[in-house]
Amino acid sequence: MSQATDIFHTKQHWENKTKFLNHDAAVRFLGFYTDDLLRRVDFDQLIQQKISEDQHHNQPSNLKCLDIACGTGLVTFRLHSQLQQAISKLQSSSHPDISVEGIDFSSTMIQGANERLLELSNSSHVPQVLEVSLPKFYEMDGQDLKFPDASFDLIFSNMGVLFYPDIPKGLSEIHRVLKPNGKAFINAWTEDNPSKVPLEIQRKTLSGPLYSLVEAQRFMELCEKAGFSSVSIETVQARFKVPFRNYAELMKSNKDLVKEDEFPQFVQQLAERFGVKNMDEEEIEICTSAHVASLVK
Ligand SMILES: C[S@@+](CC[C@H](N)C(=O)[O-])C[C@H]1O[C@@H](n2cnc3c(N)ncnc32)[C@H](O)[C@@H]1O
Repeated sequence: MSQATDIFHTKQHWENKTKFLNHDAAVRFLGFYTDDLLRRVDFDQLIQQKISEDQHHNQPSNLKCLDIACGTGLVTFRLHSQLQQAISKLQSSSHPDISVEGIDFSSTMIQGANERLLELSNSSHVPQVLEVSLPKFYEMDGQDLKFPDASFDLIFSNMGVLFYPDIPKGLSEIHRVLKPNGKAFINAWTEDNPSKVPLEIQRKTLSGPLYSLVEAQRFMELCEKAGFSSVSIETVQARFKVPFRNYAELMKSNKDLVKEDEFPQFVQQLAERFGVKNMDEEEIEICTSAHVASLVK
């Protein structure tokens, strides 16, 4: 049996996948986990704390946030919007200078994020004057971040770090670019990932990058070894409904998992497993879970 998920290590895989894991698909499959990461931070309180620090030191501070392995920017844009909302609620006009950045090693993902950025900046829903300037995106490997030490207050990574060939290096890079006391929130699929049933159908080994952080204990030890002063791991579950058609399409993008000529038969088997009669119309329920690491430098 081949290690079908080894393809997840390669840039080529993610470049190909962008058209399948576009913004709508990311919302469908990763939206729950995005919200779960962001709910771990009280942005109102964080901004108030920054303002108090400013007053204490009598100088303006900044709040710098990074989304690692950002894809087309699902976390980045939601993070930006939550910070913008928190700032709009403030009574005072003085607030820290806030920036939101996203990095991904796939050029097509970054292109997708920048296209969305353009749509947003042309949209009438976005106020003309933004207290938090729109996010910036960079093509960069998460294992080799091009930022100076102690650059960020907050780092998020939604289903990204697990795919690195060198996870310890990726975690130590996150530690390095965090400011002292900075926080990071990173999640990774357990065995209940969205590809589990397709992998079983194809009789593929359930190992490789998709399974790299399924053991919470190992995830915890890797974070501790990276130098974080506080590490906690929580396992969260999400059941969500997706149109069968979209699900099958996304699985088609895992080229090693299903060969082109096997695809009709594979889709048929997938439909049977989920009890789907009408492939174009029906929705299926996917049961997933993830480990979420909350880290403090
Ligand atoms: C499942 S997607 C998640 C994307 C995004 N975080 C979201 O929530 O929509 C995984 C992402 O990790 C990125 N990725 C994988 N390995 C990476 C690496 N070594 N450096 C940077 N990004 C990487 C891929 O390009 C892809 O965009």
